Amino acid sequence: MKIIKVKDIQALNKKAAYLVASQIIEKPNCVLGLATGSTPIGTYQELIKLYNDDIIDFKEVITFNLDEYIGLPNTNPQSYAWFMNRHLFDFINISDNNVHIPNGMAEDIGKECMEYEDQIKKVGGIDLQVMGIGRNGHIGFNEPDVMFENLTHVVELDEQTILDNSRFFNSLEDVPKRAISMGIKTIMNARKILLLATGEKKTEIVHEMIYGRISSNVPATVLQLHPNVIVLVDEAAGKLIKEG
Ligand code: F6R
Repeated sequence: MKIIKVKDIQALNKKAAYLVASQIIEKPNCVLGLATGSTPIGTYQELIKLYNDDIIDFKEVITFNLDEYIGLPNTNPQSYAWFMNRHLFDFINISDNNVHIPNGMAEDIGKECMEYEDQIKKVGGIDLQVMGIGRNGHIGFNEPDVMFENLTHVVELDEQTILDNSRFFNSLEDVPKRAISMGIKTIMNARKILLLATGEKKTEIVHEMIYGRISSNVPATVLQLHPNVIVLVDEAAGKLIKEG
């Protein structure tokens, strides 16, 4: 793992955006894996700036999101499809055909999961997967006790995750209990991974992800086995990381 520690969230957003931008410049038709949540919002804002400044072009870029709630249509402001439009896609020249987000309203969810994997395979796999980390060590919606062999699949959300995500909903009861998520194997198949973490709430889990024993109880520890991971943290999230 390559660890990059920066001063604050602003610096992290810029650096993350530059890393994504360099992937797009190097391969204009690259396949990006994208995440929702609070962490990447600032990075998406910086990417929009780079697009407006003509430094990057999304015309040929293909994207696959990590996950989506089951039961929320893409017109629901809490859906991840809505999130991606609001925070990134509405502001760049990406083609609708190149955007992929699991369909949480699919009639046959099992088939939807299999087709999602097929689509990733068909475009040659993910070049760069951008993601955050949950306080319980989840990546995507791969919760503790996950099977490392999983491809895209249906997940029962962990209590901690439902609680953490309830801040975006009117009440705890409104938070969907199931989601579709890329599996650990899908994520590990990405050629490069950029994991972002900010703030004190992530300090301990970031430390465990890097130095802890690899265990399905802390899904992010599996990233220790990936040959090309950048962990980009601000000072607060990286407080327990040893220097050098
Ligand atoms: C989002 C996702 C989740 C989040 C994680 C951290 O698509 O897959 O794993 O990355 O829950 O969320 P934030 O960034 O809100 O702390």
